[in-house]
Amino acid sequence: MSSRLESTFHECVVQGIIETQHVEALEILLQGLCGVHRERLRIHELCLKSSPNLGNGTSEFWLVSDLEQPEPTWTVRHIGGAMRGAGADQISVLVRSVAESRVSKNALRLFYALGYRLDHELLRVGFSFHFQRGAQITVTVSSVNKMLKLHAIDEAVPVTPGIQLVEVTAPASGENYTEVVAAITSFCEHLAPLLHLSKPGVLTGVVPTAAAAAASLMSDGGGTIL
Ligand SMILES: *[C@@H]1O[C@H](CO)[C@@H](O)[C@H](O)[C@H]1NC(C)=O
Ligand SMILES: *[C@@H]1O[C@H](CO)[C@@H](O)[C@H](O)[C@H]1NC(C)=O
Repeated sequence: MSSRLESTFHECVVQGIIETQHVEALEILLQGLCGVHRERLRIHELCLKSSPNLGNGTSEFWLVSDLEQPEPTWTVRHIGGAMRGAGADQISVLVRSVAESRVSKNALRLFYALGYRLDHELLRVGFSFHFQRGAQITVTVSSVNKMLKLHAIDEAVPVTPGIQLVEVTAPASGENYTEVVAAITSFCEHLAPLLHLSKPGVLTGVVPTAAAAAASLMSDGGGTIL
């Protein structure tokens, strides 16, 4: 997450899913590809939506905090529209705008006062890798949990038991996005034996080669696949 107080930027993103039993193999592969250590993450996310009676269509904001940080802070995140035209439909990577701002914990009360309501609340638990490989790539692997009671993060239960979400993102701009898309696409090819990554919202299942690829990664620590 950005250390700047406020920022608006573009990001390239792809997502996929993997069975929890193959996550350790994915971690070994990522470790070998990136050469950096993973960072643990435990992200509390609140999705806020405007009430329909506010007019102007519904808008959606995310209040996000990484509870793994020594002093967790809150960020409000608005995910803007996907980039259109200029071949954007042909590429398999989504390019979208994102606006982020650091906020205090009281932001939730402010959103309520503005007529927003809490749509849903999630806790993502997993790890991430940040590295430079033709772009500043971030890979996160996490299980997505939902709260049974308001803010009860200790009682969160998996949304899809046995399945974890993998997300690959990199910051981009209108000038360099083709370069960033190429870097992400080429990076994703290395993960192809374990999982298929595509634009968010495009449904892709687990890949049939995952079990064999995972077994081979586990037996030699990632040597052969590289
Ligand atoms: C939002 O709705 C209000 C009231 O209907 C209107 O005056 C305003 O122009 C709208 N704003 C936008 C950005 O559409
Ligand atoms: C593309 O531009 C963004 C925004 O300026 C920057 O953060 C990123 O590092 C650039 N990436 C490459 C590969 O040049």
